[in-house]
Amino acid sequence: TRRLTQGDLAKLYAAGEKVVMFTAYDASFARLLDGAGVESLLIGDSLGNVIQGHDTTLPVTVADIAYHTAAVKRGSDRAFIIADMPFGSYHESPEQAFRNAVTLMAAGAQMVKLEGGGDMAKTVKFLVDRGIPVCGHLGLTPQSVHVMGGYKVQGKGEAAAQRLRDDALALQEAGATMIVLEAIPAPLAAEVTAMLHIITIGIGAGKDCSGQVLVVHDAFDIPPGKKAKFVRNFMDGATSVHDAACRAVAAVKDCSYPGPEHTYAA
Ligand code: KIV
Ligand code: NA
Repeated sequence: TRRLTQGDLAKLYAAGEKVVMFTAYDASFARLLDGAGVESLLIGDSLGNVIQGHDTTLPVTVADIAYHTAAVKRGSDRAFIIADMPFGSYHESPEQAFRNAVTLMAAGAQMVKLEGGGDMAKTVKFLVDRGIPVCGHLGLTPQSVHVMGGYKVQGKGEAAAQRLRDDALALQEAGATMIVLEAIPAPLAAEVTAMLHIITIGIGAGKDCSGQVLVVHDAFDIPPGKKAKFVRNFMDGATSVHDAACRAVAAVKDCSYPGPEHTYAA
């Protein structure tokens, strides 16, 4: 099998098909998810929480993401690979962002993801102009947890909604080809998706994004315990982890996940 490109994902969206993304941090889960038809694997800095045991993503380093990206690349044949730029690895200057993005691309990423909107537009353009595809990330941006004052729904109220629309447009204009929308009201995510021509990937942003991203540990209920409102346990009723992954892919494709119970109101 040939590895998917960002053009292949754009074609899926143009054909009206939802794009299915999962986080992955190692070769065995990458193999499992690739085999279940997941189209994109994100080496998220959520690995700070689920792999390293930190309570935020802030301690994650470029070397950490590069290590896990290489493992995910080795474990998969088809999925489009996106690596998160960790906290502090892109904020100083476009040059610093480029240097660190190069490390992640060399480790096997086909695109990097960074948090922020209009404030990051110059950096996004700098990367894209130099051959590095960029995914933005708006709404709940976990690297800003201490500014947000906790992990809370974002984009509530007209002022915040307008800021989010402006940020999404600024990212698209700067050359980003994908944007993750995390924990925002479903109607706002639907509106932003309709407004853009690039792909939106939702997590806690309703069913009307161009695709969905699921954190693998959430989808497979590892470990059991408190999960966010938008999480569904796909192990429930599954006969194997592979079966759970196939059910998750099918549920995103047929728009049965996320349901209204996984969604934030405006
Ligand atoms: O780090 C991560 O897993 C992410 C996704 C939740 C989008 O950024
Ligand atoms: Na992340």
